[in-house]
Amino acid sequence: MASLLHLLSAASLCAGSAVIARPSVIPVPGIPSTPGVPLEAFVSYSIEFSSFPDFAGNLSAPNVFSDNLLNNLGKIQGTKPHIRVGGNTQDYAVFNASQDVTEIGIVDPAKSPDYPTTLTIGPSYFESYQTWPGTKFIHGFNLGRNSTVARQGLIDSVAYACKALEGGKLLHWELGNEPDLFKTSSQGPVRPANWTEQD
Ligand SMILES: *[C@@H]1O[C@H](CO)[C@@H](O)[C@H](O)[C@H]1NC(C)=O
Ligand SMILES: *[C@@H]1O[C@H](CO)[C@@H](O)[C@H](O)[C@H]1NC(C)=O
Ligand SMILES: *[C@@H]1O[C@H](CO)[C@@H](O)[C@H](O)[C@H]1NC(C)=O
Ligand SMILES: *[C@@H]1O[C@H](CO)[C@@H](O)[C@H](O)[C@H]1NC(C)=O
Repeated sequence: MASLLHLLSAASLCAGSAVIARPSVIPVPGIPSTPGVPLEAFVSYSIEFSSFPDFAGNLSAPNVFSDNLLNNLGKIQGTKPHIRVGGNTQDYAVFNASQDVTEIGIVDPAKSPDYPTTLTIGPSYFESYQTWPGTKFIHGFNLGRNSTVARQGLIDSVAYACKALEGGKLLHWELGNEPDLFKTSSQGPVRPANWTEQD
């Protein structure tokens, strides 16, 4: 790579002139004498919040296929991939402690054909954090929805998230996805035009 960069920079220096740069060869050892340490979980993934139960399954039906893939990557890179659970739908997902199904989502193709923009989740959603042993997670909380019910749901969800991610599974939590777009979102603004990220 070093010799290639050298060649490219020589070539760009000479662009526009008639001089042809001659490549110079820089020897690069095949085995580095002082290798660095592997980066933890260098290959990691973000999974759309509404799709996480599909990717991970739940306690009675864990998604073993996904877990095998993550374990294989873990063997290659030394650490299982970190998983961030969030994205646009984290700001649509309203938690309802009384809801007995994992999620109820309504896809409105006019807003997005990709995912539900109306979404409620129940306590069993958090079972999906139990199906990939040895994985660290980032959980996305809902900052977007601002109704009283949504705000109460956010507060009620905290205990479930903390319980699900105890024992070393919590990498980070994230409150809101891309709040800079809250007032201009093409899926429907969730803040007035005079709102700023500082607010
Ligand atoms: C777990 O997932 C299976 C398969 O999708 C589903 O049938 C079952 O209802 C889920 N369990 C809970 C508690 O949501
Ligand atoms: C929460 O879910 C329960 C059970 O499905 C339902 O009766 C209740 O209306 C829901 N609450 C809200 C605020 O939607
Ligand atoms: C609350 O959300 C609604 C709809 O998402 C939005 O129109 C409104 O501007 C928001 N209000 C505040 C004070 O953020
Ligand atoms: C935005 O404008 C409304 C209506 O004038 C006002 O009530 C509100 O306080 C303003 N919000 C911010 C964050 O400035």
